[in-house]
Amino acid sequence: MSQVKNCFNLNDFRVLAKKRLPRMIYDYLEGGADDEVTLTRNESRFSKIQLMPRVLRDVSNIDLSTTVLGQKVDLPVLLSPTGQTRMFHHTGEPAVARAAAKAGTVYSLSSVSSTSIEDVAAITDGLKWFQIYVWRDREVIKEFMDRCRVAGYNALCLTVDLPVHGNRERDLRNRLTFPTSLAPKVVADILSHPQWLYHYMTNPKINISNVKDSKNARLSHGGNLIDYISNQLDSAVDWDDAAWMIEHWNGPFLIKGIVNAEDAKRAVEIGASGIIVSNHGGRQLDYMPPTIEVLPEIVKAVAGRAEILLDSGVRRGTDVVKALALGASAVMIGRPYLYALAAGGEAGVDRMFELLRAEIMRDMALLGCTKISDLTSDFIR
Ligand SMILES: Cc1cc2nc3c(=O)[nH]c(=O)nc-3n(C[C@H](O)[C@H](O)[C@H](O)COP(=O)(O)O)c2cc1C
Repeated sequence: MSQVKNCFNLNDFRVLAKKRLPRMIYDYLEGGADDEVTLTRNESRFSKIQLMPRVLRDVSNIDLSTTVLGQKVDLPVLLSPTGQTRMFHHTGEPAVARAAAKAGTVYSLSSVSSTSIEDVAAITDGLKWFQIYVWRDREVIKEFMDRCRVAGYNALCLTVDLPVHGNRERDLRNRLTFPTSLAPKVVADILSHPQWLYHYMTNPKINISNVKDSKNARLSHGGNLIDYISNQLDSAVDWDDAAWMIEHWNGPFLIKGIVNAEDAKRAVEIGASGIIVSNHGGRQLDYMPPTIEVLPEIVKAVAGRAEILLDSGVRRGTDVVKALALGASAVMIGRPYLYALAAGGEAGVDRMFELLRAEIMRDMALLGCTKISDLTSDFIR
């Protein structure tokens, strides 16, 4: 645990996570699609943007709180959904959700999480969103929505950039399968990480909990959850399906995975309350543009009719202020909190929030801003 005290930026957690996790698990976390061009550019594109501070302004009191979909958050950094979190640390989704609640921000639970909708709701009364796909089996979708309503989730987030799985070659090379294969390479990898193996063996089996607990999932293929999910991915999904979900949910609804201004307009037209500008962290279509590059076009197209968030490549307080200055209400992060979790469990995620908060506070002071609404494109050069 004390090692996370020696982390001074988000990349430091990545280095620790790489040591702690079997190679195939780390690569699953870290990897992107094809040649990982989008993955790399997501981060490097932020570094092309310069900040232009204003001086001699009183910055003795800085407030990082803001509202997202009408909900107050203490920090403009929310957590993106990531599946199967218990693979990275045995404490999994509950640890991350608790840390997010302490930081006063939103935790988004993935449809393919290793902890169920209800179990996450039971451990935190912090802000919670649920990420959903349009699966073939609409009864399961309706059931998920009903379960979220009962469990008190604040918003639903539909991921639209996954009509098929991206090509992640690290996973192919590492023979990553669920359940884990016993190929010699895999066994050697796992045995060289005894602490991870110990927790893996002594904790309940990792499952796709929402499906496992589902009343409506018709588990064919001998009850194999992975086969079930693969079969459920419906590449025929279109805007009518998204509109159907918005109508059925009848509450705050975000569409995640938009990079095109025309799609953003369409999302507004069908009633989305928010858009998450995302390329899935470079894990889906390689050569998609970095999200920070397309953000201004989307902000212009949406013209205030829906809330705009951004993820993919946010690693620094300066990345956060750049995205906010270019029109995002808040940003979201995926890998960084998984690195922090792998590095030190809940204490790791707490430390990550502490560092991010300190970075954003310092950056705001140096820019001459005291509140989130001060951040405008005037600070971008
Ligand atoms: C290990 C991992 C699992 C993910 N699982 C999901 C998921 O289940 N649903 C989803 O909509 N996005 C998923 N994502 C994408 C994230 O929500 C997010 O868009 C992405 O991580 C943002 O980029 P960043 O990692 O550079 O912050 C996953 C990302 C990672 C790294």
